[in-house]
Order: sequence, then C-alpha cells, then structure tokens
Amino acid sequence: MLKKESLHGMWGSRWVFIMAATGSAVGLGNIWKFPYITGENGGGAFVLVYLICIALIGLPLMMAEVLIGRRGRQSPVNSLRDVAEESGQPKAWQAVGLLGALAGFLIFGFYSVVGGWVFSYVSEMAQGSFNGAGADQVGDAFSGMLADPKRMLIWHSIFAFASMVVLVRGVNDGLERAIRILMPALFILLLVVFGYAFSTGHMGEAFHFMFDFSPEKLTANAVLVALGHAFFTLSLGMGTMIAYGSYMTKKASIGSTALTVVVLDTLVALVAGLAIFPIVFANNMDPGAGPGLMFVTLPVAFGNMPMGQIFGFLFFVLVGIAAWTSALSLMEPSIAFVVERFNIKRPLACLVLGLAGWLLGIAALLSFNVWSDVHLLMGKGIFDTLDYVTANIMLPLGGLLIAIFAGYVMLRRFTQEELSLSEGQYQAWRITVRYIAPVLVVIVLVNQLFFS
Ligand code: TRP
Repeated sequence: MLKKESLHGMWGSRWVFIMAATGSAVGLGNIWKFPYITGENGGGAFVLVYLICIALIGLPLMMAEVLIGRRGRQSPVNSLRDVAEESGQPKAWQAVGLLGALAGFLIFGFYSVVGGWVFSYVSEMAQGSFNGAGADQVGDAFSGMLADPKRMLIWHSIFAFASMVVLVRGVNDGLERAIRILMPALFILLLVVFGYAFSTGHMGEAFHFMFDFSPEKLTANAVLVALGHAFFTLSLGMGTMIAYGSYMTKKASIGSTALTVVVLDTLVALVAGLAIFPIVFANNMDPGAGPGLMFVTLPVAFGNMPMGQIFGFLFFVLVGIAAWTSALSLMEPSIAFVVERFNIKRPLACLVLGLAGWLLGIAALLSFNVWSDVHLLMGKGIFDTLDYVTANIMLPLGGLLIAIFAGYVMLRRFTQEELSLSEGQYQAWRITVRYIAPVLVVIVLVNQLFFS
C-alpha cells in the first residue's frame, strides 16, 4: 500500500523542496564544468544546444523522478518497487533504484575529492597565495597538489565529513536546516562575484562568447557533451530527485516546482559563465583551457586584479557551498535505502556509507600520484574511471530506464493524477518521456560506448 508520508521526514514547504533540489542541481557541474565545456566547444552554439536539451529532456525527466518519489514515499529503490507493483508490474524495477543509489555513492567518491580541492583553494585564497602569480606558478601549484596525497587526503576528509555531519541529522534537522542557510548564501555570493566581473569592463566580450551563434563551431561531439551535461547538472538519472520528491507535499504542483528548479539551475550556470569569462578575458587568458579553467586560469586572473584576493576567496566559498549541497544529495538515496532495507537508525547508515565513500575517495585521490599506474577501464585511472562510468554510462542508462518507467510502466491514470496538468501539457510531457527522451538518450549512450 502506498504511504502518505516518508519515514525519513517531509520538507517544511514547497520552497524547501525547490531549494533542496536546486542545491542538488547547482554544483561543480554549473560553476566548474559548464563554463569550461562551453569554452572548449566554442561558446554560443553549444549554449543553445544545451538549453534545448534542458528543456526537451531535462524538465520532463525531472518531473518523472519527482512524481515517482512522491508516489512511492520511500528511497528510490523501494519507491520504484511499490509504484511498479501498483501498476501491476514486476518488483524487479527496484533494480533501477539500486543502480542509481550505487551511482550516487560512486560519484560521491570523486566529487568529494574535487570538493576538497575547492576547500583547499578557499584556504589558499584567504592566504593570498596567488597574489601576483603567473600562469606557470599556479599551474605548478595545482599539479603540486595532485602530487601530494596527504594534502588531498586532509581536504577530502574535511569535505566528506562536512557532508556526513549534515546527513546524519536527517531530512529536517540536517538537510533542511543546512539548505535554508546555504542556498541564500550561494545566491548572494554569485551576485557579488557577478558584480565584480561586471566591473572589469569585459562583460560584453563574455556575452558575445557565450551567446553569439556560430553554427560552424558545432560538432556532433558538442551535441553529445551538451546532452550528457543536461543530465549531470540537473542531478538526473540516479534517483536523487526520487529521494527528494519523496519528501515533498502532495499539495505542490510537480510541473511548476520542477520548472522552477530547472530555470534556477540554468540561470546559475549562465550567470556563473558570465562571472567567470569577463575575469578570464580581462587578463587576456584562454577561455578554452579545459578542466584547469577554475583551478589554474581563474586563480591567475584573481591574483592579478585589484581586490582579486577578496573576490577570489568569495568565489571559492561559493563553489564550496555549491559542491557541498550537491554532495548531500548524492548520498541521500543510498542512506535512505540502507535505513529502510536493514531497518537501522540513520546515524549508523551514515557512518557505514560515509566511511565507505571516504575510502573510495582515497582510492580516487591516490590515482593522481601513488596509484597512477593502476588502470581500470580503457587505460583510465581510478578517478577517471569513476567519473566516466557514472556520468557517461550509469546516469544516461538510469535516465533511460526512469523515462521508460514513467512513460510505459506506470499506468497512465497514475502519472496523470500525480502531475495534475492540463490535458495538453500532460500530452506534451507523455510524448517526451515515451519517445523523445529515450531516443535521444540511446543516441548518447551508443555514442559514448562505441564511438569515443
Ligand atoms: N548536479 C550536480 C552538479 O551539477 C551534481 C550532482 C548532484 C548529481 N547529485 C547528482 C549528478 C545526482 C547526477 C546525479 O554538480
């Protein structure tokens, strides 16, 4: 029988759900990855394709996840099981939840390492380590960090610990309380850094770079990157939104709340780009520097600008908060599942999963130095394998299965009841989850697996 409330707790209001889901969605994906993949793929045309992907499959899939969670009112695994049963389908659908919980746990392993880098940059900025530094010097500092397992271990541990401290307190005293403080802080910091970028006088250039439509720069690969990133940035494909949806009140409209989250996440990515590129251009640096854009290019830029130390510090605090609220959502599905499955108290579940995630992170950070010869998949090290397998295979696969679940497995009247949209809107949603999203995701998956 379906439950009215989740045993883990319920969000205080519709806004808390929006903030929590936005906190999950807005993370390293928005501030670190989006600007650099935009840079690598030549700007304008890429941004347009990304926006189309977000609207076409991001929003409908987010609605699908939230509705499954709210109907099942449990961890993704058990929600999928009960919701499948309700529609007379096999319980085996719970495997999709397991795949997702596992993906979240694996992502947490390497996400915490990168979160640790961000925390360490907060401390470097506070000390003014990059003041007046040249590109070589900052580049060396970054590689020096990667070569230093002890230092990475300390920061990774702090990041993992900070995440578990919140998670252990549960949905209301932990997640909700943290999010009520952190999300407003995040938005204020973003505006402050944006204002600083504006003052450089290079906003126009950044605008052209991000929004000038130059179709000749658009490659097939860029389209795939945009589609894959739409999943990652919205935290889709692994049940995060099922877990968060299971704590959402019946009264809220899923369509409008999901839309708000999607719009906020997209705005943050665009504003982050418009905050970062002017600073890059003001220092005549290369926007296409790749993953080093945030950890090398930007610190050099901040180090050589008036008041760069203060704003560089604030910038990394912003990124740290974004990463932190996302890390919480990576672990929530597996924690909720372990609590339900083994009938144990939340603190114990957090301790076990937190320790395991921390150890996984240690393996990931050692792959930059001591274990650099360990190759798992296609010659990739541990860190890169975790990143590749989760973002490129597990998330799209999870997203595909969730779309099929919401579009074909659940009875039409149940999804209709849960979404309560107008007939036209409901039709549009149903066509996307049944036809458009699956086809696009299969294209991405096949490409990832066989052509890259
Ligand atoms: N969306 C986050 C980001 O942009 C990362 C993230 C958090 C995530 N939870 C997730 C990605 C669940 C996929 C699935 O950084």
